[in-house]
Amino acid sequence: MQGKICVITGANSGIGKATSHKLAEMNAHVVMVCRNKEKGKKALEEIKKVTGNNSIDLMICDFVSRKSINKFAENYKSMYKRLDVLIINHGIFNLNLQRTEDGIESMFAVNYLGSFLLLNLLLEVIKDSSPSRIVIISSDIYKQARKNLQDYNFEKRKFRGFIAYAESKLYGIMISNFLSERLKGTDVTINSTHPGFTKTNIGLNNKMYKIFYPLFGIFAKTPEKGSETPIYLASSPEVEGISGRHFVNKKQTETNGISQNKEFQQELWELSKRLCNLE
Ligand SMILES: NC(=O)c1ccc[n+]([C@@H]2O[C@H](COP(=O)([O-])OP(=O)(O)OC[C@H]3O[C@@H](n4cnc5c(N)ncnc54)[C@H](OP(=O)(O)O)[C@@H]3O)[C@@H](O)[C@H]2O)c1
Repeated sequence: MQGKICVITGANSGIGKATSHKLAEMNAHVVMVCRNKEKGKKALEEIKKVTGNNSIDLMICDFVSRKSINKFAENYKSMYKRLDVLIINHGIFNLNLQRTEDGIESMFAVNYLGSFLLLNLLLEVIKDSSPSRIVIISSDIYKQARKNLQDYNFEKRKFRGFIAYAESKLYGIMISNFLSERLKGTDVTINSTHPGFTKTNIGLNNKMYKIFYPLFGIFAKTPEKGSETPIYLASSPEVEGISGRHFVNKKQTETNGISQNKEFQQELWELSKRLCNLE
């Protein structure tokens, strides 16, 4: 990965941190994108120290805020002239309904819509850097999601945290699939992955989840194991040219009919553009 610039969102913790660590070990130039400067700095220093790779930068972006995403994208483009690998990894899980300042359900906003906006803002520089790769960290919990785009914001339905999370993860797979069609002929690939149940910090902000986590957490993978497929998609020659696919344990898997539905994908694309004020 020498000479390649790899951008990882949510890079200070869990799968994102383990992915950053491994890519630094592989001599990539790593850009760790975090929302909290202190946490980001701590993770960066640790990775620099252990890997001996000093070619690691920290950039700040809070995916809850459109302003922050726009600012990050602008800063990134003024600092770097290329982007070889973008790993969209950041994520949250809330059992209770929370909304952003704009009134958007927080998992839809952070896990999905913020990622959509970032992808659009960085797509040109990614294209200009081809061959380049985009990796979206989804979750196979997406299979619990149904076609509920009309009420993406939980205004008519009773809020259920697992369903909102599942929907945000379904939309990540759908956009990966949709964009792969648009990117045909560009030498930019985009794939999604389920990292598997991994012991990280996600969900620990929920009291009930935190209480039971020590029980079911014993079945979880380490972040190093959970980051294997993202790293594989970011770096392996085996997946060169492969796009629009979903990977579990480094293997391509078929996703369900809802995620593959072209009309639904188009509907999602249009709604997301509208919500992000993209023309
Ligand atoms: N762990 C699993 O079992 C599992 C399974 C399937 C999929 N996944 C997916 O894997 C990805 C990584 O999660 P993880 O399990 O490694 O959890 P994690 O340890 O909690 O890491 C999540 C990262 O996202 C960051 N983040 C959260 N909200 C953000 C925001 N508004 N703006 C910017 N960054 C934000 C967190 O920053 P802070 O540290 O500041 O909160 C953290 O760096 C997520 O997309 C998750 O959905 C995880």
